[in-house]
Amino acid sequence: MSIAEAARLILEGGLVAFPTETVYGLGGDATNERAVAAIFEAKGRPQFNPLISHVLGPDEAKRLVRWNDTADRLAARFWPGPLTLVLPRAKESPVALLATAGLDTVAVRAPAHPLAQALIRAVGRPLAAPSANRSGAVSPTRAEHVVQSLGDRVRMILDGGPCQVGLESTVLDLTTAPPTLLRPGGATREAIEAVIGPIAVSDAIPSGDSARKSPGQLASHYAPQRPVRLNASTVAADEGLLAFGPDVPSGARLTLNLSPAGDLGEAAANLFAMLRALDQPPIGRIAVMPIPPTGLGLAINDRLRRAAADDGTGRQR
Ligand code: TXA
Ligand code: MG
Repeated sequence: MSIAEAARLILEGGLVAFPTETVYGLGGDATNERAVAAIFEAKGRPQFNPLISHVLGPDEAKRLVRWNDTADRLAARFWPGPLTLVLPRAKESPVALLATAGLDTVAVRAPAHPLAQALIRAVGRPLAAPSANRSGAVSPTRAEHVVQSLGDRVRMILDGGPCQVGLESTVLDLTTAPPTLLRPGGATREAIEAVIGPIAVSDAIPSGDSARKSPGQLASHYAPQRPVRLNASTVAADEGLLAFGPDVPSGARLTLNLSPAGDLGEAAANLFAMLRALDQPPIGRIAVMPIPPTGLGLAINDRLRRAAADDGTGRQR
């Protein structure tokens, strides 16, 4: 696996999966309309759902968006790291129009993983990168998850081991006053508010205007094949149990504990890999114990609610 080779593929318009500290991304040249089209195609992603442009830091971001003081303060605290900022598109922004799905804003993020940074540096352009899974499925936190869902659709997969954060970045819209949390993620609301004061939060399962503003916030997303039952305090014999904390009900076919010690950071890092591991025969349904809604628990509960939502497509549940 070579960064130079990966960069060459991307500059040719190809797609390369790469690790970030949050989840694996499916990367392409964010300035190349055809490469961006190939990302949507590979994921089976609706084109109204825009992509994040990944950069090294504020200097590169400023060429893509109209930067401001709030962005400066947030980047100083959270970049590189799991915070995505939505800002007005800069006049001469090179980001492909398809990448922003016709919105007049661009989402930018500087990932913390050294392989992601090396790739962006070698390409010398922003990388458009959604999570490297088929649209609507659980995000990949290991290279082998990418092989399973998109293995035949990417030119190369850079293996950086398990993702440390394990949940996607927090998406924060800086075009509203106060800023609006569009997707809870690896940077907690509490930590953001400690830097810029109170923020607004978009509806958990949005419709109308907020659905248009963050099209990725569809109700059913991050979804395993099996039905998911939340806030379980008891389990049935055909269920797989996603547990949290030290007091775990017995009787499940298989129990995986997000964090026996009740640590939300550990739980976030384990969430997607354990959901995948429980989404296997002979398990009929996945039961999930309650997770406290503070800190990273906000993002964990968001993903679990979406995993449990019915998408109306006849997916078994
Ligand atoms: O942690 C992450 O953010 C990962 C890694 C690879 O960086 N990427 C990721 O990308 O999760 P994706 O495409 O799966 O999710 C991007 C989210 C979507 O909810 C999308 O709607 C939102 O960001 N988004 C992107 N551009 C936007 C924009 N201009 N305005 C509002 N929301 C935007
Ligand atoms: Mg995704």
